[in-house]
Amino acid sequence: MGIRNNKQKKMETQRKLVTQHDPKSPISEQYRTIRTNIQFSSIDEELQTLIVTSAGPGEGKSTTTANMAVVFAQQGKKVLLVDGDLRKPTVHYTFSFTNTFGLTSVLSKQISFQEAVKTSQIENLDILPSGPLPPNPAELLSSRSMMELLRIAKEQYDIIIFDTPPVLVVTDAQVMSNMCDGVILVVSSGRTEKDAAVKAKELLTAAKAKIVGVVLNNKEESKTASYYYYGK
Ligand SMILES: Nc1ncnc2c1ncn2[C@@H]1O[C@H](COP(=O)(O)OP(=O)(O)OP(=O)(O)O)[C@@H](O)[C@H]1O
Ligand SMILES: [Mg+2]
Repeated sequence: MGIRNNKQKKMETQRKLVTQHDPKSPISEQYRTIRTNIQFSSIDEELQTLIVTSAGPGEGKSTTTANMAVVFAQQGKKVLLVDGDLRKPTVHYTFSFTNTFGLTSVLSKQISFQEAVKTSQIENLDILPSGPLPPNPAELLSSRSMMELLRIAKEQYDIIIFDTPPVLVVTDAQVMSNMCDGVILVVSSGRTEKDAAVKAKELLTAAKAKIVGVVLNNKEESKTASYYYYGK
């Protein structure tokens, strides 16, 4: 710990996963409720591949994705969390991995899927970081390599969950929603404009996405709760 600089420490503290460190907290319980609701919403339909997105930046996509991945893994599902945000990736920070290799390395055929996937400290949860950022994210994400990666991942995991960039900023999430079974839309209470949320929903629907849930991320409330956690 001693040699880490403050900025790094701050990043890691901020990204501590409540579902991992405090599974009994009310916030973790809420993530489990979301998990249950998603599972109920898909009784007759396959929901193996999920993306998490939002209208704009900073609404809690990455936090939601990581905690959802943890609660699915805690339920005994074999889970792969993929950092599909090829603009501002953060999954490698959350799980303290390097980002030298990842999704982009597999899509550009530099290494195999098997070599790129990392085992996390959480049982049943594997991680595929973004890898080096490419100049053409949307193109890579809609490539035949991506279809192939999904095919292989689906053989090995019960659930594959993707973090993505915001819908209103770039087309990546739309592209990915079209390839995946369901979309979770994060809305930040007090932050997301209603029009923006409606527009995001329209764009996703136009891409033939199935929105399986909307998560209301209330930063203020959660900050209090995370204070409660650290203060214990
Ligand atoms: N419920 C919450 N309580 C407290 N802090 C939160 C909560 N949700 C998100 N944050 C914090 O807000 C910041 C942005 O969250 P996050 O990275 O999850 O958003 P994002 O939508 O992935 O952002 P980006 O668009 O930049 O990828 C992070 O520092 C995160 O720790
Ligand atoms: Mg993010």
